[in-house]
Amino acid sequence: MKKLIAVITLALMPLTGMSAGGGGVQLQKANIDLSNEAAIQRGAKLFVNYCMGCHSAQYVRYKLFTKVGLTEDDIKDNLIFADAKVGDLMKIAMPEAEAGSWFGAPAPDLTLTARIRHGGPDWIYSYLKGFYVDPSRPMGVNNTVFPNVGMPHVLWDMQGIQNPVYRYEVHHDGHTVAEFDTEAAADAYVKEQGEGFRLERVVDRLELSQPGSLTAAEYDQVSRDLATFLTYISEPMKLERQSMGVWVILFLLVFTVLAYLMKKEWWKDIH
Ligand code: HEC
Repeated sequence: MKKLIAVITLALMPLTGMSAGGGGVQLQKANIDLSNEAAIQRGAKLFVNYCMGCHSAQYVRYKLFTKVGLTEDDIKDNLIFADAKVGDLMKIAMPEAEAGSWFGAPAPDLTLTARIRHGGPDWIYSYLKGFYVDPSRPMGVNNTVFPNVGMPHVLWDMQGIQNPVYRYEVHHDGHTVAEFDTEAAADAYVKEQGEGFRLERVVDRLELSQPGSLTAAEYDQVSRDLATFLTYISEPMKLERQSMGVWVILFLLVFTVLAYLMKKEWWKDIH
């Protein structure tokens, strides 16, 4: 019975807006536009160049991008390395298990990430912008929306290096009762209050400590293009479905009129 309840709760989670990984973190708005084919194309190019060393997108074929304005030759020239063909799935050579032993966590397939992660494109956008220096981590970086992430900041040369500015919160009974800029001040406060008061270090904001090759606006664009691309591949049928919906409604309207006329015709001799 308990199992059943757990299964039902899990199944309903997307409806209630609860989700693993959503946490209390404020996501930044990606403002993606799925009808922007140029953005999807740019995202695809970034993905094959910077992400496919570790991540696959193995439920879509390269050929999909003929639907967003690329010819098969464009795809061959710009998106395919090694000996893959246009009709092939976007798989990679590195097996997940191997990647796992290198990075402490396997690099997951990203085909469905935009649908699985709560916040979708906003989560991905915030994730790509959320890497910051943390010497306590094996990769030297941490992430604001993915605490203790096992992925290195692969786009650091574009974005630059971000340092965290911490804030120190004192919690009591599940509430934040005080906030401090320095750990020492927060520590002193907790000691003074005694039992039941707990200190938590929170990333308040990130500051660029070393600029990258791109401006902040340009890096936003790169993150948005990747978020657009990953959202597109997670549901390439979405656009088609939306335009199909209009026809379905028109059909139902016409059908209703016809049905009404037919009913009148059938019943006219009976009254
Ligand atoms: C050097 C290998 C490597 C490269 C290159 C790489 N990643 Fe990752 N990525 C990882 C690993 C490992 C994880 C798993 C992290 C974990 O579970 O702690 C990950 C996780 C992720 C996640 C979170 C998936 C989830 O829902 O758990 C996203 C999104 C992601 N990567 C996007 C990208 C994008 C976009 C690029 C290209 C710009 C990229 N990655 C390049 C190794 C890599």
